Amino acid sequence: MSQSPNPPGYERVLADHHALKDLLSRIDQALTEKTSSIAEVSDLLAKLGDRLVRHFSMEEEGGYFSEALLQAPRLISRANELMAQHPKMCTCVRDLVPGVGEVGPKKDWWQETRQRFDAFREELLRHEQGEDRLLQEAYNRDIGATD
Ligand SMILES: [Fe+2]
Ligand SMILES: [Fe+2]
Repeated sequence: MSQSPNPPGYERVLADHHALKDLLSRIDQALTEKTSSIAEVSDLLAKLGDRLVRHFSMEEEGGYFSEALLQAPRLISRANELMAQHPKMCTCVRDLVPGVGEVGPKKDWWQETRQRFDAFREELLRHEQGEDRLLQEAYNRDIGATD
């Protein structure tokens, strides 16, 4: 059992995950209520893209990939698998806002965006959940254990 405080990198990743989830909820709400303009929702989606790019580089440069893996080197391959998902998600988040002429005849902008957003959110949340689990294993289960 360990009561040691969480290291700063761990806290930062968790705080960032929390902020991302908040932003996802705001977008979800905007897409459900449809009271904001298309430009406003597009801004939120662009904000999500910017935030995500910063989040991924933080994770790659100084977050769990350095601290957590020092704690639990056996998790390196899992961490690498998760990190390998970053570039694809960066591409997807850039394509969340449908361009002119991209929306099919039977759909409107809101439907198309909703569909893209739902698929992306599911993928992102699965990824983040995988990271949260990895961090927990690195800092809770493996503290004190030696290979
Ligand atoms: Fe990540
Ligand atoms: Fe993450």
